[in-house]
Amino acid sequence: MKIGVFDSGIGGESVLHAARKALFGHEFIFRRDTENLPYGTKTPEQLLELVSPIIQEMVDQGCQVIVIACNSATTTIISDLRKSFDIPFVGIEPMVKPAAKHTKTNVIAVCATPLTLASRRYAHLVEKYASRLTIIEPDCSQWAYMIEQNKVDHDIIKEQIIEVCQKGADVIVLGCTHYHWIEQDIKSITEGYGAIVIQPEEAVVRQLKRVIARLG
Ligand code: DGL
Repeated sequence: MKIGVFDSGIGGESVLHAARKALFGHEFIFRRDTENLPYGTKTPEQLLELVSPIIQEMVDQGCQVIVIACNSATTTIISDLRKSFDIPFVGIEPMVKPAAKHTKTNVIAVCATPLTLASRRYAHLVEKYASRLTIIEPDCSQWAYMIEQNKVDHDIIKEQIIEVCQKGADVIVLGCTHYHWIEQDIKSITEGYGAIVIQPEEAVVRQLKRVIARLG
């Protein structure tokens, strides 16, 4: 089967890597839109305009299922894509529900792009699963760009992560696929505070397997 994986940039490569490892015998097509990155500071309308032609190309290339390996695109435009294209999509979104299940302090941190945090989908997840919790949303607006450029300012990230831990967050949600590349860095900081770091690659791969099984 031809499986498409799409993101604005290298965040998608982390998801691609996880999917490839778990699914043998399939062909993967990875597309990114580095020219227009970062996506997380754009509007849903701009995203739809940028992403739709790329998805069309991937469909034309024969992709039978596409993973939108981008929280910013999933939380804002995946329903539009589902209406426009006649193939299944697998999305990725911040793990608010598992975080709410795991927290003992009732304080969680969600690290995500401004677009994801402003999305209706994210608001829905918070309302449904985490309305009783305190949610800290550190300013990660520069993170994707820094990671893409391989110019990560570890001191800034360390400061931000320590701050959320000191405010009591015991679960840190990585709500942008670019941040998967600094997961180990973040874990090395949170360990000292007893906080855990979660991201949804495994769940996405499980969902992808289900979709592939359905397609036969
Ligand atoms: N990797 C994307 C996400 O998961 C977006 C990063 C960006 O381009 O801002 O949200």
